[in-house]
Amino acid sequence: MIARELAEKWHDLFSRYAEDLYPGRYTWTKCLELAEMATEIKRLAKEKQSMIVAHNYLYPEFHEIADLIGDSLGLSLRVQEVGAKRVDFQSVFFMGATAKIITGGATRVFVSDYPEVLGCSLVFGTDYEWIENWKRQNPDGVLVTYINSDAYTKSISDFISTSRNTDKIIVYAAKMFPGRKILVLPDKFLGYVMKAKAVEQGVDPNLIDIYSYEKSFGPSPLQSWHAACYVHEEIGMDAADVALIENPEDELMIHPECGCASSCLLKLQQGVIPRARAYFLSTEQMVERARLSPAKKMIVATEKGMIYRLRKEIPEKEFIPVSMKAECRYMKANTFEKLLTSLRSDRLEIVLCDDCCDPKNPRQDFYSIHIQKSIAQKAKVGIDRMLAIK
Ligand code: 13P
Ligand code: SF4
Repeated sequence: MIARELAEKWHDLFSRYAEDLYPGRYTWTKCLELAEMATEIKRLAKEKQSMIVAHNYLYPEFHEIADLIGDSLGLSLRVQEVGAKRVDFQSVFFMGATAKIITGGATRVFVSDYPEVLGCSLVFGTDYEWIENWKRQNPDGVLVTYINSDAYTKSISDFISTSRNTDKIIVYAAKMFPGRKILVLPDKFLGYVMKAKAVEQGVDPNLIDIYSYEKSFGPSPLQSWHAACYVHEEIGMDAADVALIENPEDELMIHPECGCASSCLLKLQQGVIPRARAYFLSTEQMVERARLSPAKKMIVATEKGMIYRLRKEIPEKEFIPVSMKAECRYMKANTFEKLLTSLRSDRLEIVLCDDCCDPKNPRQDFYSIHIQKSIAQKAKVGIDRMLAIK
């Protein structure tokens, strides 16, 4: 399709499904610019035999060019399944790193910016020293680490988990290691929800610690310290309640990272909200639930990039974001301009190195970002353990 035709198509699609999400972004001129870049991206991707993968939170234009779109773990698993020679991973850095850890030498993984730019507040909020200290105090303690973490944290963890399955992993870890303390990290809100769900399934609450504690910064008094996703935290404590009250006929899909997730779960458990009205889901599970649900209108509590995918794939239903402000600056740091640079000059590649650098502060240069082989191998153990749990 020539760029002008593509621009017409995109202008129509984006006006229909994304105008309220990104007001004023998709002018005709912008759509034409994007379509011209897309033509070149597709040509280069074919020449380099690269598969373009994108997370659900990216801007709509990425949904249109990606060979694969999905949630954090799903993308890496598909990349491995397809056996791609090269992938251009359009997402946040830890997701590209997870794909590299899973595929090892088989797939070249490229990202279009450095980890500081394609960051994640959960990665930035992880304090290695505190975790190592927890491990010293609980020498037989078990670490269940959410996939939104860097390679080093994964490497010191026993299990990796995702927004789909953290409760199941806690239950499994409690059975496999009876009586041992389990630390769930790094996300506080997801931790609380998954702990509550694991407790419902019989795990002793006293055995589950959440990564949330008091910390002293220099001479200042103790401050409470935790990791949370700034996007989902800003959605607010009572957003789920308000949304359900304002839309009494509709169903709520809520990402477990949301600041309102634990109070919503408590109300479901107490029967204040009927169970059939709210579901805790990963982004990809939201698509599955939206297809199956009898509801005609669904309220969505997560980053708003998700709404475009839902509206486009399930046009017969209405999808309302709980917050129009829920936009991840790290995901949105991916642009067509950067992807083009990356494809043209083969940078930035995530490479597995022979332990040439500090695992907590891996080397970066103009062309590459390192992960130590030994770190990747240890990190993979926790991922494989998770995958083995059905
Ligand atoms: P998913 O794994 O559900 O896609 O979530 C990733 C994420 O970063 C949520 O903010
Ligand atoms: Fe991280 Fe939150 Fe962005 Fe997801 S939405 S990548 S958890 S900062």
